Amino acid sequence: MTEHAASTKPLLAVLAGQTRNPPPIWLMRQAGRYLPEYRKVRSEAPNFLAFCLAPDLATEVTLQPIRRYGFDAAILFSDILVPPFALGHPVRFEAGEGPLLARVTGRADIEALDLVRARSVWAPVMETVRRLRAVLPPEVTLIGFAGAPFTVAAYMVEGGGSRDFAAARRMAHAQPDLFAALVARLEEATLAYLNEQAEAGAEALMLFDSWAGVLSPSQFRTWVIAPTARLVRALRARFPNLPVIGFPRGAGPMLAEYAAVTAVNAVGVDTTLPAAWAAGVLPAGTAGQGNLDPMALVAGGAALRREAESLLNEIRGKPWIFNLGHGIVPETPPDHVAELMSIVRSAR
Ligand code: CP3
Repeated sequence: MTEHAASTKPLLAVLAGQTRNPPPIWLMRQAGRYLPEYRKVRSEAPNFLAFCLAPDLATEVTLQPIRRYGFDAAILFSDILVPPFALGHPVRFEAGEGPLLARVTGRADIEALDLVRARSVWAPVMETVRRLRAVLPPEVTLIGFAGAPFTVAAYMVEGGGSRDFAAARRMAHAQPDLFAALVARLEEATLAYLNEQAEAGAEALMLFDSWAGVLSPSQFRTWVIAPTARLVRALRARFPNLPVIGFPRGAGPMLAEYAAVTAVNAVGVDTTLPAAWAAGVLPAGTAGQGNLDPMALVAGGAALRREAESLLNEIRGKPWIFNLGHGIVPETPPDHVAELMSIVRSAR
């Protein structure tokens, strides 16, 4: 069944190492505040986490950008901070402030994380995956996702977002056993969460390691590459044909080692890297994904066309999924996304 699906779904074909011209396209944060129809549904939920855990609302907003633009993939609407919340860790979202979390400072905070409880709290996410799989058009691939253990651990140690995640990096160096225990617990929870998404119908899985780029090379190997490699191996043991996309944002030249050691099927490339360089350092058969600057999409017009066409030229003939180098920003005019779709769909 998977092989048949791979032949009809452009995104799965590229994840299997094939090339497509034009390339398949979807955009990180394609469901979000830049869409008026998203803001309308969002206003029906009391808070952001309740929104992620409401299958009716999450299913609807996942489908909105598919209806509007006809992307090749739908990404489950949820958040990387749903698993820590489900594990019983205090997480909340304040309007205009981003996420706020309790800080992990010792063993007790890690031992309190409860995987049995988590499975029942995140159950509505699996219901959303099942509903999406039942209604998505046959050519559209459903992507499930989780935050990678390092990035989620970084939010939990820091107590929220940060420019440099200094507290998390300090703990990783000064109390490596403590930080390792946190990462190990998150690895176990992430594996359970992604296995459940695959069982519910996710056709590809993406690991967001949004803050991988704050680490030194040796720390990157320990906290980004090693846990990701173990997760990929464990997922494949159960779902041999399920492709995994890794996104080590800010990896820079560590991208090559990340791809080789983790054996992900595709690597998300951020805006700072030349796409042609990235395509050149990836192992044969490993796809790239990215990496248009989200600000080119805000600008639109000639600037957008220039950037998009130069990216299309760089990736022509390579297994590549057209995407942004990071998420869509809320000030993006929806018409510019339609413009981008027509540029990419007419690529030859
Ligand atoms: O469309 C999609 O991409 C699917 C849904 C999705 C969201 N967050 C929805 C969301 C996905 C895949 C994420 C991943 C995510 N969440 C990441 C990794 C990707 C990245 O951006 O680096 C991270 C770091 C988070 C954590 C997070 N969630 C932050 C820092 C914020 C606040 C910043 C902001 O943009 O408001 C969120 C909130 C969030 N997650 C929103 C959405 C649509 C906006 C909240 C709202 O609508 O009120």
